[in-house]
Amino acid sequence: MTSTASNRITDGEVQPEDRFDRALRPTYLTELIGQVQIKENLLILIEAAKLRTEALDHVLFYGPPGLGKTTLAHILANEMGVNIKVTSGPAIERAGDLAAILTNMHQGDILFIDEIHRLGRVVEEVLYPAMEDFSLDIVIGKGPAARSIRLKLPHFTVVGATTRLALITSPLRARFGATYRVDYYDVDALIEIIQRGARLLQIESDALGVKEIASRARGTPRVALRMLRRVRDYAQVRADGRISGEVSKAALDLLDIDKLGLDELDRRVLLCVIEKYNGGPVGLNTIAASVSEEPDTIMDVVEPYLMQLGFLERTSQGRMATHSAYEHLGIEVDRQNPQQKLF
Ligand SMILES: Nc1ncnc2c1ncn2[C@@H]1O[C@H](COP(=O)(O)OP(=O)(O)OP(=O)(O)O)[C@@H](O)[C@H]1O
Ligand SMILES: [Mg+2]
Repeated sequence: MTSTASNRITDGEVQPEDRFDRALRPTYLTELIGQVQIKENLLILIEAAKLRTEALDHVLFYGPPGLGKTTLAHILANEMGVNIKVTSGPAIERAGDLAAILTNMHQGDILFIDEIHRLGRVVEEVLYPAMEDFSLDIVIGKGPAARSIRLKLPHFTVVGATTRLALITSPLRARFGATYRVDYYDVDALIEIIQRGARLLQIESDALGVKEIASRARGTPRVALRMLRRVRDYAQVRADGRISGEVSKAALDLLDIDKLGLDELDRRVLLCVIEKYNGGPVGLNTIAASVSEEPDTIMDVVEPYLMQLGFLERTSQGRMATHSAYEHLGIEVDRQNPQQKLF
C-alpha cells in the first residue's frame, strides 16, 4: 500500500470516504461512547445554561484529529436545541466574513469554528468583543470621515476545535468559559464504537474480529471506523462477509498495520530517529525531510500517537526514540551510547 499523508488508513485527519461517518455520528451525549469526564462536565454545563435560560458558555475542544471534536460540537447544539453554523479558521478570511456570520446568528445559536488556531489576527480581534460583550464594532467610511459603530449581537456560543492548543493566542483562550482535552480512546471504548458502527452499517462481526480492529485503531474512532470498512471489503471479497478475528488480522496485516496500529510511515519515522540519528535527539524538520513528509503531518498525526505509546519523547534538543520503540521494532539497543541510557 502506498502511504502518502492523504490516504493513510491510520491518519486521524478526515478523508473523502469518511463522509459515510456522518450517519454514524452520535447525536446526543447518551450515545457518545467514552470521554466520560467530558460528558459529565458538558451535562452540567448544559443543565446550568438551561436552568438560567442562557446561551451556553463558549467551549473549546482540543486534541488529535478524529477523536470527536466536531461530533461534540453537533451534540451540544442538539442537546441545547439550537442551530449550529459550521465554519473554520482558514475559511474566515476577512473581518467582514465574520461580521456577516455573526449578524445572522440567533439567540443561543452555536458557531462552530474548526481549526480555530488558524484564524487571522484581524478576524480574531473582531471575535474578542463578540465573544465577551456580544457586540460588533464596525468601521464605516474611510479616512478622516471614518467612524466606528457598535452593533449589539444576540447571545450566542462559540465552540472552537483545534489540534494545536499551543497556537491559540492567550486572549482568545481566555474568552472560552470551558476548555476540554479530547483524549485517545481505550480499546474497550473503541470496541463499542466499532460494534455500534457495524450494527448501523449492518456488518456481521464477532467479538474477536472487532477486538482486532479496536486494538490497531490507534485510539481514534475515525480510524477505527475506516478500518471497519476496509476489513468489511476484505471479508466480502476474500471470505464469507463476516468479520472474524482471522479476517480482521489478515486484512489489517495486508494493509501493513501492525499490532499496535503503527503503519509504514510511523515505522519510517521511528527508524529514521533510531538508525539515522542514533536514537536522537533530532529535530522535527530533519525527520520530516528524511521521510519526505510534511512536518505538520508528523506533528499532528504521527507523533502524538507515538508519544502516547511511549515510543517517542520530545526534548528541548529534539525527538528521541525510547527503549520500547527499539523493542517494538526488534532493534538492539546500543548500550554504549550514553544518550540511549536516558530511557
Ligand atoms: N465517542 C464517540 N462515539 C462514537 N463514535 C464516535 C465518537 N467520537 C467520534 N466518533 C466517530 O468518529 C468520527 C470522527 O469524529 P469527528 O469528526 O467528530 O472527529 P474530530 O475530533 O472532529 O476530528 P478532527 O479533529 O479531524 O475534526 C465521527 O464521524 C463519528 O462517527
Ligand atoms: Mg472535525
